[in-house]
Amino acid sequence: MGSRTRIANRDLRRKVMSAEAAAALIPAGSNVGMSGFTGAGYPKAVPLALARRIAEANAAGTGFRVGVWTGASTAPELDGALAEADGIELRLPYQSDPVSRQKINSGHMECIDVHLSHVAQMVWQGFLGHLATAVVEISGITEDGRLVPSSSIGNNKTWLDQADQVILEVNSWQSAELEGMHDIYYGTALPPDRRPIPLTRAGDRIGVPYLDCPPEKVVAVVETHAPDRNSPFKEADEASKRIAGHLLDFLQHEVGHGRLPANLLPIQSGVGNIANAVLDGLDAGPFEDLTAYTEVIQDGMLGMLRSGKLSVASATAFSLSPDAAEDFNANISAYRDRIILRPQEISNHPELVRRLGVLAMNGIIEADLYGNVNSTHLMGSRIQNGIGGSGDFARNAYISFFMTPSTAKDGAISSIVPMVSHVDHTEHDVHVVVTEQGLADLRGLAPRHRARQIIDHCAHPDYRPMLEDYHQRALTGSPGKHTPHLIDEALSWHTRYLGDGTMKP
Ligand code: COA
Repeated sequence: MGSRTRIANRDLRRKVMSAEAAAALIPAGSNVGMSGFTGAGYPKAVPLALARRIAEANAAGTGFRVGVWTGASTAPELDGALAEADGIELRLPYQSDPVSRQKINSGHMECIDVHLSHVAQMVWQGFLGHLATAVVEISGITEDGRLVPSSSIGNNKTWLDQADQVILEVNSWQSAELEGMHDIYYGTALPPDRRPIPLTRAGDRIGVPYLDCPPEKVVAVVETHAPDRNSPFKEADEASKRIAGHLLDFLQHEVGHGRLPANLLPIQSGVGNIANAVLDGLDAGPFEDLTAYTEVIQDGMLGMLRSGKLSVASATAFSLSPDAAEDFNANISAYRDRIILRPQEISNHPELVRRLGVLAMNGIIEADLYGNVNSTHLMGSRIQNGIGGSGDFARNAYISFFMTPSTAKDGAISSIVPMVSHVDHTEHDVHVVVTEQGLADLRGLAPRHRARQIIDHCAHPDYRPMLEDYHQRALTGSPGKHTPHLIDEALSWHTRYLGDGTMKP
């Protein structure tokens, strides 16, 4: 189908122009709200054209930068290109681009790491400043001007609503059959006017399948035909498989004790290879008729929908490998009734996560003896990606699981440390820690008992004696006995690693 046929509205068809002409309409120094979530549904042409415009301005000595707000991570054509051109003043709420990461960590670019469910309300409240332009990828425009969303929703509803002007990218690579899969809820409000969100099951539809946008706000429509950034997954390694195995044993144990129903509760699964291995394990495991209330639909979840293990998946975006994306586009009719894409303030909403009793499973960088978790910063000061939705889910989950291999850098660093070098999730929000060594169930345990569980079940055998030694000396030497610590020594763990796979002698 040619992309022209995707723009059924005559008024908006008249606004079709090149990406360069559209990018020229973005005011220098302003904030731009872009679509895009985990490499899905981001604009493919206008950000590249904006990056070229900035690079030319830089060369002419009239350079400028913009604020870039998105749903979550995007792709090299957006984050990479704009960061490369030195065109981003401030980035939020989450990124995973290597060029952006380098600029942020070298102090050349600002980044605010925001809970993904908070972004929309912060914009409505005006906390983040003024939004000049929305640049949003969609998969089509209906005759009466409603917008058919693309492979992610993210914060698009908010960008379209709040921005002074809107640039639409209509991407004909996205399947036309996405139409009807989305559920946009327009009932959100700011306090004191909030009402309960009427969603009680992961598969409920509470909104409409289209995004609204006043046509007079649309200043440009750009046609594209380009794939999402689909990164291949690595085959699950041995550690990921063992982590998945421990988690599945635990879930069976909980069902056996009547603390979980036989089909579990809605699952939330972070991105990455460990999460994918867990989903593969669930697919091969004994549980039937599962549901997902999560942020992204990755390969593993598609596999579970295909096998019938998963009856419904609610999310805000896809995050598929090239093979899975091809399968999805070729067989979309087999999936579409069981997938619901929502705005991220709904997919990650604390009220809904708590009501549904979500089982939240997320990857981490390190955990400490008491169960505090660092999801974002390597060695305390270098941001890797961001907190993403992990806080939205973990704080409100029925059970919050955090997973990591017990060591990093080929064993040179322990992922279990006396005290985390940066805290994203406090001991109060962490119920279960899982490594390939085992699983520590921290529920109902006081700090000293939590430390016992984590050392015995999660630490790598090479580091267990060091952690045990620290713990024993802290039990006697710490001034406070509730959460015993030898503070200077605890933090010195992060200065022992020399960065080249070796440790200080
Ligand atoms: N100390 C130092 N470095 C560490 C480390 C540790 N304890 N643990 C990991 N690293 C390094 C790795 O060596 C790797 O470095 P490299 O890129 O130089 O090879 C890097 O951190 C990434 O580690 P990796 O194991 O490849 O990460 P991952 O793909 O399994 O992702 C997180 C782990 C924590 C980065 C990822 O899950 C994340 O961003 N989480 C936060 C957001 C989130 O939870 N989102 C889901 C919510 S819906």
